[in-house]
Amino acid sequence: MTSVIEAIGVANQDTNGLLEKTNPKSDTAELPAPDPNNPFYFPALTLPSGLLFNRVRVMKCPVKDDPMTHLKKIYDLPMRDDDIIITAYPKCGTHWVAEILHMLTSGATEFSGRTKEYTMLEFCNDLRFLATLSSPRLLNSHLYMAQLPRGIVVKKVKIIHVIRNPKDTAVSMYHHLKHQASEQFTFDNFLKGYPCGDYFVFSHQFDYLRQMAEFEKSHPDHPIMHIHYEDLKQDPANIIKELSQFIGTPASDDFCQRVAAACGFSNMRKEDPTREIPESLRNLMKKRMEVYRKGVVGDWKNHFTVAQSEAFDEFLAEQKQKGFGFTPRGEF
Ligand code: A3P
Repeated sequence: MTSVIEAIGVANQDTNGLLEKTNPKSDTAELPAPDPNNPFYFPALTLPSGLLFNRVRVMKCPVKDDPMTHLKKIYDLPMRDDDIIITAYPKCGTHWVAEILHMLTSGATEFSGRTKEYTMLEFCNDLRFLATLSSPRLLNSHLYMAQLPRGIVVKKVKIIHVIRNPKDTAVSMYHHLKHQASEQFTFDNFLKGYPCGDYFVFSHQFDYLRQMAEFEKSHPDHPIMHIHYEDLKQDPANIIKELSQFIGTPASDDFCQRVAAACGFSNMRKEDPTREIPESLRNLMKKRMEVYRKGVVGDWKNHFTVAQSEAFDEFLAEQKQKGFGFTPRGEF
């Protein structure tokens, strides 16, 4: 299979006419069709048939259009100069950063009232909705850079990339998925499937981090701020201050403290049931998704057995040899 890094290369060379040159079906041969007996088979989100778009796997976006049509629309989405987009591997803290950004751009510590899936590109049922939003728009996505709107590069849209310790991310992902999974989907099965990158619709976190690193390397002038979940936990007001400077609306120390407190885990969790969720998410989930589970650093120690941790460490050692892209914080 063509590597993600090559895929990014393709996306960067050609910001016009890429779609015409891309033959989405040309690289599918090595990708297996979904197997319903696989514990990682999630019918609502699984790959339709191993399709690639810009040489990156296509997820079955939970929207009215077929996945390829939706991805093409995302790729062509008109961007504004002052758009802000959060990019992150799932379960690294996107909801948290999205709410912080909402407060920073609105200048008040009121919650947005909507879940971040409203402006998550792959969940946005009708992308024309985004044109109705006032500026600056706060968008978010878990897609790889090669599948995000080409206008991001052209307009140098500010990117906020969130990173989290891979063992904690894996635990969070397991809990996120298990409500929709078969009984075979135990934590042990999840970990066994994790390194091969075949589970769910995403590959593992290091593929994601490497394609971000590659994007940054090939676009050295692009405004990107990297936020580590652990740093945000440790010193939220300080990171929020940096974030406010990055987005061009510097906030006072006092306001940053207030945003940090308002967006603390227990407040976010308490607020969540009142948030409006988009139809795409409602249709996808059997019951309301519980994003705000524990919100701590190092919870992996409560989940991994010694044997599981050692097996995961072998995978991490291989990833380290290939280059992490970005080195997550913490002990792992
Ligand atoms: P856990 O499952 O470890 O609790 P995402 O938003 O990318 O889906 O990430 C979800 C993870 O971020 C969950 O991790 C969630 O609890 C955590 N999170 C969300 N808001 C948080 C906050 N205000 N403080 C700390 N962690 C938060």
